Amino acid sequence: MDEIKHREQVDLIREVFYYQSRFDGKTIVLKIDYPILNAPHFPQLLKDLAMLRATGIEIILVPGAKEWIDAVLKEYDTESEWVKDVRIATQDSIPFIRMAAFDVANRLMTLLTAFQANSVIGNFTRARGLGVVEGVDFQNTGRVEKILKEPLQQILDQGMIPIFPCIGWNAAGKPYNLSSDEIALAVAEALQAEKLFFVTDSDGFMDSRFSLPPGLVKNSDGRVARLSLEEAQEVLTLNAGNPDPDLKYLDLALKACKNGTERAHVVDGRMEGAILREIFSNLGIGTMVYGNDYESIRPMKTTDIGDVLRLMQPLMEEGILIKRTEDDLMSRQGDFVVYEIDGVVHACGALHDFGQGQGEIAAIATNPNYAHLSMGRKILSYLVEKAVKQTMTRVFVLTTRTVDWFEQLGFVEAPLDSLPEKKQQTYNHARKSRIFALELKDRKTIKS
Ligand SMILES: CC(C)(COP(=O)(O)OP(=O)(O)OC[C@H]1O[C@@H](n2cnc3c(N)ncnc32)[C@H](O)[C@@H]1OP(=O)(O)O)[C@@H](O)C(=O)NCCC(=O)NCCS
Repeated sequence: MDEIKHREQVDLIREVFYYQSRFDGKTIVLKIDYPILNAPHFPQLLKDLAMLRATGIEIILVPGAKEWIDAVLKEYDTESEWVKDVRIATQDSIPFIRMAAFDVANRLMTLLTAFQANSVIGNFTRARGLGVVEGVDFQNTGRVEKILKEPLQQILDQGMIPIFPCIGWNAAGKPYNLSSDEIALAVAEALQAEKLFFVTDSDGFMDSRFSLPPGLVKNSDGRVARLSLEEAQEVLTLNAGNPDPDLKYLDLALKACKNGTERAHVVDGRMEGAILREIFSNLGIGTMVYGNDYESIRPMKTTDIGDVLRLMQPLMEEGILIKRTEDDLMSRQGDFVVYEIDGVVHACGALHDFGQGQGEIAAIATNPNYAHLSMGRKILSYLVEKAVKQTMTRVFVLTTRTVDWFEQLGFVEAPLDSLPEKKQQTYNHARKSRIFALELKDRKTIKS
């Protein structure tokens, strides 16, 4: 047990190193919903961000202020009218809106100061009034015209954390109330940020709340872990008309990725360590939309052999997989494939050609920390497709403890004499492995 814990810790440290070097000098933009500022872990969240900044990751904060603006306007008996999702900032209300927006930005600055991080509340947002739309005068409500990249970059180069209140100014200095979501999107695009976070106060993409297409990668709590651009679009289409605010964030995340941000995340900010876990672990705890290659199954390289042996080691010790050495893997390198997430190998498998149109699927192993994420099924499916491409007509597997899994995926128990002669000769009668096979004649892949 201690050994497993130890391995898990080492794996985690490796992942952290990997991501730390990957994100060094890169920019992460965080839009933080106002209610999160009142969550018990919020000071810890800012402490984490201050630490990230100190390690060389550029952090930009865009706090939402909607609920605080509402409270301040109420306090000063000022009306605030909404058209669809847009607040009309009247001449009377704009001073209070400005006050509330800067108040929120100040709260972040104060906390960052306590954690020895230098920050700047800046006027980096050029704005333009929304004007009169379909007969509605939006007065002092505006939209982002552009982000002033140069001064912003100078601030970042000095190691500071820029904070964006939800206010922008036109060239003459007139202030407009802006949407923080829009600012965050514009900043991420202007700086081609590595990541954009929407830190929300909701549970995220649980399958209980949304119509979700089949085949998505989910974590054990039922939350969607990641979505490609196509999958994100599919979720939006399936849930069109659903007013759940998480869908708004998904839409923004999709836009951000299309506009050049590598990855956009929707994360429940009420969870302790949410941002660190989402940045530094392949598993994360939010939902990530990714526009680039994130995961892939590919042939095993020589440099992967150590990782593959590490995956198989505990399973070989338990007798679940037969023993293989580095030399065994070297000599059959072309048979092996790995499942890689962000440069880290998390699963493996092999297809050995035994002639007579038959191939053996072997050495399928998933990192236990990444179980139930369909990696095993995807590796198996990849190997079956590989067998079909190699014009094999049948694949078989020898297994002692994974019978149900293969049966569930369409494999059927088969007798020893149905195996190619070469395999029959080497069958280990003492091990008593059961034999399961999948006929490939009319089949292109396994059951999903
Ligand atoms: C079998 C194995 C590859 C599955 O990997 P995985 O990535 O977790 O699998 P998937 O996500 O595709 O499928 C998970 C499902 O398989 C089932 N499953 C996992 N291991 C199983 C086993 N040993 N027996 C029966 N079913 C199993 C789980 O119940 C799970 O269902 P759920 O997600 O609905 O709860 C993995 O558990 C493993 O590495 N096992 C040890 C090595 C091994 O047995 N290899 C096969 C012999 S070559």
